[in-house]
Amino acid sequence: MRKDLAEQLEKVRSLISAHSRSSREVYLDLENSGLIFEESLEELIEAYRSRGNPSITHRPGWWALEVILEAEANLVEFVNAGNGELVFTHSGTEANNLAIMGLARASNGRRKILVSAIEHLSVKFPAERLQNQGFKLVEIPVDGEGFVNLDHLASQVDGDTLMVSIAAVNHEIGTIQDLKSIAEIVKDKNSEIIVHTDACDALGRVPLDLERARIDMASFSGHKILAPKGVGALFIMEGIKIEPILHGQLSSQRLWPGAENIPAIAGFAKALKLFRENFDEYRSKMIKLRDTLIDGIFERVDEVMLNGPRGDNRAPDNVNMSFLYCEGEALTVELSLRGIYVSSGSACTSRILEPSHVLLAIGKPYEVAHGSILMKVSPMHDDEDIKYVLEQIPEAVNRIRFISPKAVM
Ligand SMILES: Cc1ncc(COP(=O)(O)O)c(C=O)c1O
Repeated sequence: MRKDLAEQLEKVRSLISAHSRSSREVYLDLENSGLIFEESLEELIEAYRSRGNPSITHRPGWWALEVILEAEANLVEFVNAGNGELVFTHSGTEANNLAIMGLARASNGRRKILVSAIEHLSVKFPAERLQNQGFKLVEIPVDGEGFVNLDHLASQVDGDTLMVSIAAVNHEIGTIQDLKSIAEIVKDKNSEIIVHTDACDALGRVPLDLERARIDMASFSGHKILAPKGVGALFIMEGIKIEPILHGQLSSQRLWPGAENIPAIAGFAKALKLFRENFDEYRSKMIKLRDTLIDGIFERVDEVMLNGPRGDNRAPDNVNMSFLYCEGEALTVELSLRGIYVSSGSACTSRILEPSHVLLAIGKPYEVAHGSILMKVSPMHDDEDIKYVLEQIPEAVNRIRFISPKAVM
């Protein structure tokens, strides 16, 4: 084996073996990787056994096509998307890239792109890439809870604007944006401007009515709704021109060539069905678990703050808290030793130890951003999980505070 690979593998193995598995585990890092519904997993396994490639004319091929069509029907009805095309990708990241880069490629000359200052990196980075290619990128500021400044947005929409991309729900701090007002401001100025929303963190958590809100494109990700990883989707309203950004084999989908991940799409369809049928029940359950966790932390730990809004304007699953004098990365490791899996800021930034751009954009100081922990509850969690987390967090925080020099904060 190559020396660098062998060394890396050795390091990871020693981390795992130093970390004996806790008898109780609570997985709350649903931002970065999901739990999966048992029913979705069964669909996935069944599809691996029996489904073919949807572009091919034989029985397993038609079965695969059936999977795609069923998943499409489930998704577009759930979010009332209107007439258009649903493209299955392999992740939410790919869906966001296709939306932004694909629209820019098909642009008729308009070159201004507006995004909020707290977008997921899979929106932020492609938009920044386009800026390097001559497009004009404007980041719309947000307030201290993450709500987009609508006056600023209105002042930036002009004749050169190609698209506006604002996430329906922020992935880190759970802010639920007023999508309808956002699209109204944009469309009232010029109905040809395309409004895209990254709905990866909104699906299943907040009611979505894309047609009523006048949203032209929306991105989704399977693992955010307890479906398998490896599947995402982009909805594109009828009449919108998008150029492919990948080129390769012919497939049933013009805009995303390559073999579709049929097993993951089958699991996605099942999770969509479960979320649609149990929407109110799942929502109330998540809100109860979320609030028990937030209130319980405030009762038990000093010098802690909630990032993002409280109440109805916060995503039902989102708990993002900053523990002062406590480094977020150290706390994730300490909690991991206790079988509680969370993330600090977002995983994309944790490896390079940069504070989250979302927390900085809502005005949190560097040290508060560094002490933040992101936890997400789901319909698969229960009261006992939250009880265990609330027992462990105070001890874990005290331990990290004890060993970290306060002067650092
Ligand atoms: C809001 C948002 N957009 C996009 C993504 C990317 O989705 P994926 O992990 O499927 O690439 C995520 C990630 O989890 C997300 O939270």
